[in-house]
Amino acid sequence: MFKTVTGKDIFVAGSWLKKDELVAIPTETVYGLAANACSESAIQKVFATKQRPSYNPLIVHVHKVEMISQFVKSFPDIAKAMMMEFSPGPLTILLPTNGILPSIVNNGKELIAFRIPDHSMTLELLASLDFPLVAPSANVYTTVSPTDPQHVLKNFNGKIPYILDGGPCNVGIESTVVGFDENDRPVIYRHGALTKEEIRSFAGYATVFNKEGDHSSPGLSKLHYSPKTKLVLIDDLQSLPGGINPEKTGLISFLAQHPIIPWSNTFILSPNGDIKEAARNLYKALHNLDDLSFELILAERMPENELGVTINDRLIRASNK
Ligand code: TXA
Ligand code: MG
Repeated sequence: MFKTVTGKDIFVAGSWLKKDELVAIPTETVYGLAANACSESAIQKVFATKQRPSYNPLIVHVHKVEMISQFVKSFPDIAKAMMMEFSPGPLTILLPTNGILPSIVNNGKELIAFRIPDHSMTLELLASLDFPLVAPSANVYTTVSPTDPQHVLKNFNGKIPYILDGGPCNVGIESTVVGFDENDRPVIYRHGALTKEEIRSFAGYATVFNKEGDHSSPGLSKLHYSPKTKLVLIDDLQSLPGGINPEKTGLISFLAQHPIIPWSNTFILSPNGDIKEAARNLYKALHNLDDLSFELILAERMPENELGVTINDRLIRASNK
C-alpha cells in the first residue's frame, strides 16, 4: 500500500520511477501508468496493478525520435517521416525490436510500439531519465480510460505512490497505433486521435488491420473502455429504445438534448458539434455518468468519419457487455 500523492513535481516522479515504482503521467491523450521500460520487475508491477493480461503489449514512451533507433532492427523512412510530422502527438508506431528492451514489454512479439507524448511535463520527465517509460492507460483493464488525475485516483488510490498532475488531457482519446506492411505502407492497428484521413493525406495510404480476435493488437479486443453501468449505443436521438425509465437513464449525446431524458442525466459532448471537443469529453462523460449509478447509459453514435470513427470504436467496445 502507498499513500497516493498527486502533485506537479517532476523530480519526485522521476525518483519513484528510478526505484522501479509506478507513476501516473499526463499525456495529451489519456493518463499513462508509467514504469521504467528497461526494468522487467517494474513492468511486472504495471501488469499486476492494471490487472492486464501479459499478452497485451505496452507502448514505449520517449521524448525524441532519435531515441527509438537504439531499440529497433529497422526504421523505415515512412515511419520516421510520420514521427517527424506527427510527434510529439497521438501517433504510436510499431517497429521490429532488436531485443534490447525486455521482452515483457511486447510479450516477445516481433514488433514493439513507440510514441512521443505531447505534454510538456512528461517530455521534461522523459528527458530527465536515462531510460524510456512504458505507459499503458492508467485504468484497470477493460474499464474507462482516465483523462484527469481524479480518474487515475479512482482506479489506483493506495496502489501507486505518485500521480503527476498535468491537468485534464487536451485530446482525451488514445493514440493511433500504426504498423507498416511489407511495402512499408501504414496499417492502423488501433483507431485513435490521429485519424485515418490525416495519415492518408500525409502518407498517401492507410488501411485498417482487420484480424480481430487474434491478439495481434489487443487494442482491438471486443470488450474495453467499459463503464460499470450497462451502455447502449443508439444511432441517433430519434431512436431511443422502448421501455426505458428516463429518470434512471443517462445520455451521452453529440450536440443536443433529448426531450424525455432529464437535463441533469445528459452529457452533451460538444454543443457546437466540434468533433475534437467531443473526443476530449468522451471519457469524462463516461466517468461522470457511471458515477451516478443509472440503470442504463445511452450513447449517440457519431458521424462515421475522422475522429467520429475513433469515438464510435470506443463506444462500440464499451457497450460490448
Ligand atoms: O494514447 C496512448 O497510447 C496511451 C497514452 C498513455 O500514451 N497509452 C495507451 O496504452 O493507450 P495501452 O497500453 O492502454 O494501449 C496500447 C495499445 C494496445 O491496444 C496494444 O495492444 C497496442 O497498443 N500495442 C502495443 N504494442 C503492440 C504491438 N507490439 N503490436 C500490436 N499492438 C500493440
Ligand atoms: Mg488502454
